[in-house]
Amino acid sequence: MDLAELNRVANAMVTPGRGILAADESSGTVKKRFDAIGVECTEENRRDYRELLFRSKGMSNISGVILFDETIRQKAKDGTPLVKIIEAAGTLPGIKVDKGAHPLPFCPGEMVTEGLDGLRERLAEYRGLGAKFAKWRAVINIGPGIPSYACINANAHALARYAALCQDEDIVPIVEPEVIMDGDHDIDRCAEVSEFALKMLYEQLYYARVKLEGTVLKPNMVVPGKKSPKQVSVAEVAEKTIRVLKECVPAAVPGIAFLSGGQSDLDATARLDAINKLGGLPWKVSFSFSRALQHAPQTVWAGKAENTQAAQQAFTHRAEMNSLASRGAWKPELDQAA
Ligand code: 13P
Repeated sequence: MDLAELNRVANAMVTPGRGILAADESSGTVKKRFDAIGVECTEENRRDYRELLFRSKGMSNISGVILFDETIRQKAKDGTPLVKIIEAAGTLPGIKVDKGAHPLPFCPGEMVTEGLDGLRERLAEYRGLGAKFAKWRAVINIGPGIPSYACINANAHALARYAALCQDEDIVPIVEPEVIMDGDHDIDRCAEVSEFALKMLYEQLYYARVKLEGTVLKPNMVVPGKKSPKQVSVAEVAEKTIRVLKECVPAAVPGIAFLSGGQSDLDATARLDAINKLGGLPWKVSFSFSRALQHAPQTVWAGKAENTQAAQQAFTHRAEMNSLASRGAWKPELDQAA
């Protein structure tokens, strides 16, 4: 393991003013997104759509792109590997390596993420294909009586085993324990569950001998459930999110890159900005969004080649707004979506 290089890459992933584009949706998830805009989910359409993003001006605000297995092997229309287009933009290619969340036995409503078998070999192959970092996502649902210790523990353990394997193969692990926004719980319940998941995660990372300087954390923001009658201000989300993260995340971690998790584009940007405006944080704090970066360009594109430029502009706009938010320099009046 080359810790200095892992640390260099981890820092590059959270450079102020830049953040991560999560473009690692499985083909099943892309189908759901394409169904919503009336586009057939063929390999060529998936390629054309992602090529559009990777060739847009907004890539100058993107430090890294998380790819799906299909995409890291794909070539653009003109035959250039998509990985080369990403690198040419000065952006680091990364790869999702988990094999999805599956039902956890004896724990109704809970999931554990699988994919450890054969992972060392897959990491070595992905490194050869250009991946500098990887992602593994754990899913933690909130509901009556859940999450259980069994769920939090199993997911933290799997994340730690994944992270250790990544570092042993000189790949920076993004560790993602996602507390899901669905449900009617309030923000304080989200804070309590996020704290539980993060405390257990950092305990397991320690036991697995993972070097925190060579990792990036991808957490949820602390927010009320989507169906909660008690929605809260941007300031409250920022304050409670940072309170939990300061309680749980060691300062040795170079950076935190939030997932968007189903927040509106504007909420995700405004809350990231408010967090950075608080200042005095021990880590760099940026974004690793899928939906909050892609919803706008996908809607504009609608599968039509003639919409490519407009879709690129929509992506660039969101990337620029989130870039400002990663420096606490965003203003609502700059955001045409406001
Ligand atoms: P969202 O930003 O849509 O939550 O996706 C981020 C991600 O990569 C989830 O693993």
